[in-house]
Amino acid sequence: MPEGKLLTFIKELSVLLEQKPSEEIIFTKGKKLLETLIAIDDWLPTEFTKPHPQYYQQYLLYADPLDRFSIVSFVWGPGQKTPIHNHTVWGMIGQLRGEEKGTPYYPQAGGGFKIGKACVCPPGHVDTVSPNTHDIHVVENNLADQTSISIHVYGGNIGRIHRSVFDPINGTPKSFVSGYANTLVPNLWNPAQ
Ligand SMILES: [Fe+2]
Repeated sequence: MPEGKLLTFIKELSVLLEQKPSEEIIFTKGKKLLETLIAIDDWLPTEFTKPHPQYYQQYLLYADPLDRFSIVSFVWGPGQKTPIHNHTVWGMIGQLRGEEKGTPYYPQAGGGFKIGKACVCPPGHVDTVSPNTHDIHVVENNLADQTSISIHVYGGNIGRIHRSVFDPINGTPKSFVSGYANTLVPNLWNPAQ
């Protein structure tokens, strides 16, 4: 029986992370795996593609039982945008559908942020975040009339991690835990997924 794309990705990423690779290796070899997963948009079940009229949605697709990584479908309605936030673990953002804009924010001595160069991400593109170099950003749907969907992979169970949103003026952090919108996860053994 053929194996679904999501299961293949999870297996290959698990094997890679088993070797305790450097972040550089994760952002080269792991990034290639994610690029392969998002190269063909035919596997994400409809349940995990639905926008909410008010809020961007975070659907858990898989979380490693040892908390080494998690995979989340982010679904953005038109005009939806995150606050300024961090992750505290490495992350890869693979664009599946539509177009998103990711803007890095660099904290400045004395408070506030320097706004970096935005990445406008078409389908197939993978952007990254890293607590070592560029952990703080804002992500938004770059399309005014369409849903955009990206597949995020993080070096921990992102929906359970205590992290921060930041005041745009003075940079003051406020703790939050993002959670997940879904109560059920995909059947990895369905070859269509
Ligand atoms: Fe983020």
